Amino acid sequence: MRDYREFLSEVLISEEQLESRISELGRQISLDFAESNRLVLICILRGGVMFLTDLMRKIEIPHAIEFMAVASYGAGARESSGQIRISHDLNTDIFDRDVILVEDIIDSGHTLHSVLEMLSTRKPRSLQVCTLLDKADRREIEVPVRYVGFTIPNKFVFGYGLDLDDFYRNLPFIGVVDEEKYLLGKNK
Ligand code: IMP
Ligand code: MG
Repeated sequence: MRDYREFLSEVLISEEQLESRISELGRQISLDFAESNRLVLICILRGGVMFLTDLMRKIEIPHAIEFMAVASYGAGARESSGQIRISHDLNTDIFDRDVILVEDIIDSGHTLHSVLEMLSTRKPRSLQVCTLLDKADRREIEVPVRYVGFTIPNKFVFGYGLDLDDFYRNLPFIGVVDEEKYLLGKNK
């Protein structure tokens, strides 16, 4: 596997910036849900994992965590069709719970739209979205997002949970891919 430095065009968000923004988000969520005794964070696998584990450490009120995985049909690896299939469902009932959906990135919005639609049929008390990254210019369908870490330009990013062909999720920062260099080296 190649070293990421071969195709990293820039560090978009540093480890320090992530840590400080995620602390703010955690504090805000702790305030907003201070009266709730039924908060559950739902992480969408796999991209949201690193964000979830850092975010939950910054949330000072008791809460549960859950995981779900969805796969989108049809489209290529970098575009979503909006049609999703649940490949791993929640283990608990979210009826009457205060739910925060924790996402890595919102791009077209199709994935999130479908997930929200599906979760709302289970009648949670409240349902909010917390995304680390928002590529707002790319939105094709409107989705309500309560917490946004960073609004970013339309560039393909990786690291901090986000993958490039399944690798590099471990990097502690958000980097921008130099697509040309990445693809060139891939075909060698
Ligand atoms: P949407 O349905 O178009 O909003 O797609 C969102 C999903 O696409 C995210 O959960 C990511 O898995 C993936 N995605 C979109 N943009 C990027 C990116 O820049 N890097 C890595 N994954 C991305
Ligand atoms: Mg994802």
